[in-house]
Amino acid sequence: MTEPSIAGIGAHADRDVTLRGWVYNSRGSRKVRFLMLRDGTGIIQCVGGAGDLGEERFAALAALTQESCVRVTGRVRVDDRAPGGHELILSDFALLGASDDYPITPKEHGIEFLLPRRHLWLRSRKQHAVLTVRATVIAAVHEFLQREGFLHVDAPVFTPSAVEGTTTLFEVEYFGDKAYLTQSGQLYNEAAAAAFGKVYCFGPSFRAEKSKTRRHLTEFWQVEPEMAFADLEDTMVLAENLIEFVAARVLERHRDLLAGVLERDAARLEAVRAPFPRLHYDEAVARLREAGRDFAWGGDLGAEDEAVLSEQFDRPVHLHHFPVEAKAFYMAPDPEDPRCSLSVDVLAPEGRGEIVGGGQRADDLAFLEAQLEKHGLPREPYEWYLDLRRYGTFPHSGFGLGIERLVAWLTGRHHIRECIPFPRLMRSISP
Ligand code: 4AD
Ligand code: MG
Repeated sequence: MTEPSIAGIGAHADRDVTLRGWVYNSRGSRKVRFLMLRDGTGIIQCVGGAGDLGEERFAALAALTQESCVRVTGRVRVDDRAPGGHELILSDFALLGASDDYPITPKEHGIEFLLPRRHLWLRSRKQHAVLTVRATVIAAVHEFLQREGFLHVDAPVFTPSAVEGTTTLFEVEYFGDKAYLTQSGQLYNEAAAAAFGKVYCFGPSFRAEKSKTRRHLTEFWQVEPEMAFADLEDTMVLAENLIEFVAARVLERHRDLLAGVLERDAARLEAVRAPFPRLHYDEAVARLREAGRDFAWGGDLGAEDEAVLSEQFDRPVHLHHFPVEAKAFYMAPDPEDPRCSLSVDVLAPEGRGEIVGGGQRADDLAFLEAQLEKHGLPREPYEWYLDLRRYGTFPHSGFGLGIERLVAWLTGRHHIRECIPFPRLMRSISP
C-alpha cells in the first residue's frame, strides 16, 4: 500500500492509502467522527463510522486529541463538499504520539500567548501559509537574479566594522577582540562585484534596533544585489523588476492561499507592475507638507511619513536622492547636486513603507576617507574597503531587500514577526 502526501491525494481516488500526520481538529457524533488530518502538505477530512470500525476502535478514534500524531488507513473518496475535494473513509488508524492539552486551541489567542509557543504555532494554518509564501519568495529571488546573470557570493556574519551606522551594532567577543554581527553584506558585495561583475549575497542581517515596531526584527534576512558599471537608475530598474517577478510568482503559485487562509486581496498584487513611479526627495517633502506633515528638508523619513507617501500609490514607489546627511557613509553624492546622494528607498504600498534601501556607491577615495571621518568611523577596519577605490575603482550600485517586510506586504500580515519562522525581537529570543 502506498503512502502519498495529502497534497498529492487526488492521484489516489478510490484507492486505499495510509497517511501519517497530526490531528488538526476532530468532531462528530456517536455514530460518525470527522477528523481533520494534516501532514504538512495539506489537510484532509477523515471519516470514521462506528459501523465500519467497531465500537472499541470508534471510541478510541473519538478520544484522539488535537495534535496527536496518527497513522490512518482508508479509501480516498472524491467529494466536492469536503475541504480539498477529497476525503478518506477510515478503515483503520493507530496513535503514534499522544498530545495532551495542546495549548493552541482553535479559539483566538493573543500574541503574548502565541509568541512563546512559536514552535507549536508554526503548525497553524495561517502561519503555515505565510511561511509557504516566504519559501516561494526566496526561491523566486534566487531564480530571478540568477536568470539576470548574478552570481551568488556569500558575505560573512562576523565583521570588524559597521555598514549602517554604529548605533545598531551587536557586539560579540571574538577571541579577545571586538567583532560585530553583520548589518549588511554590502561592503563585501562591493569587493565581489569587482571580482565577478554582478553578484548578490543572501543571508541574515542583524540590527540592535531598540524599536518595538511592526517592521523591525533584530535578525532579518536580506538579499543584496550589487552591480559593477551600474548607476542609480540601473538599481531602480533591477529592484522593480525583481519585485514584479516575485509578486507575479506568488500570485501564480498561491492564489488560493492568498484568497483563502490569508484573506489577501489578490488585485493588490496584480497592480505590482514595473516601472514603479519615481519620486525625488524634494517632491516627497512637498507631498508630505501638502498632506499636513511638518517635515524639514534634510532628514530621513519616519514610518508615518513613509506611510503617508506610500498610501498615495497603488504600487511600490522609488524615493530617490535623499540628502547626503540622511544616508550611510558610502552613498555617492550627486555630481549635479552634491547636497543629495544617489540613493533610493522603495516604499511598498498600502502604507507599508520601506522594503528596499540602496543606491550608487561613492567610488572616489578622498570622498570616502572624508566620509569615514565625518561619520566618526575608525579608519583601520575599512582599509580593505578603501582598497577597492585604490585598485581600479569603478562605478557600481546595488540595494538590499528585506525578505520579511516583502513577505508581510505580499501576504498582508500586519507585523513582520509572522514572516520569519523564529522571530528575533528586542524583547523575545525564545524559542
Ligand atoms: O536600508 P538598509 O539599512 O540598507 C542596507 O543595509 C544596505 N547596506 C543594503 C545595500 O545597499 N546592499 O536595509 C535594507 C533593507 C530595508 O529596506 C528593509 O527592508 C530591511 O533591509 N531591514 C529590516 N528588516 C527588518 N528588520 C529590520 N530591523 C530591518 N532593517 C532593515
Ligand atoms: Mg534603509
